[in-house]
Amino acid sequence: MTRPSEILAQLLSDHGEIRGVIAEARLSAERCARSEDQRSSLRSWIASVTDKVRDHNRREEHLIKEVLPQLGNWDEVRAQFMTLEHEREHRELYEALEKLQAPEDPKIAGDAALAILERMLTHMEHEEQLFVRPEVLRDLGPSPHG
Ligand SMILES: [Fe+2]
Ligand SMILES: [Fe+2]
Repeated sequence: MTRPSEILAQLLSDHGEIRGVIAEARLSAERCARSEDQRSSLRSWIASVTDKVRDHNRREEHLIKEVLPQLGNWDEVRAQFMTLEHEREHRELYEALEKLQAPEDPKIAGDAALAILERMLTHMEHEEQLFVRPEVLRDLGPSPHG
């Protein structure tokens, strides 16, 4: 099993990258909403966000299912509840991201993008309050690297 501290570092680094592309996508969405940017530019920013989120969600879902329950400081019921809730939210966010490619109107696309990007930031904040934190993802036992 990958060490919890390594998982924590990976997830935080993913979150950092996702926040970076979200910041760019937001700027483009705001410009689209003011008709100052091309619809195509927002499309490619949203595609970058979607790619990063897909990989990250896969890692995170694996972590929640496989790793959290093995940590002594994690209770089973909470883990199960969170797995279901979390996967549902990932699906919803991911579908909403994919739908953002559809609207042709830059104002509609820009406003919709701003709303979904905001939700993604909130999602990551909640994770960092709940489990993507050193108190939860802490190594138990000696390091395999000596
Ligand atoms: Fe998540
Ligand atoms: Fe996450």
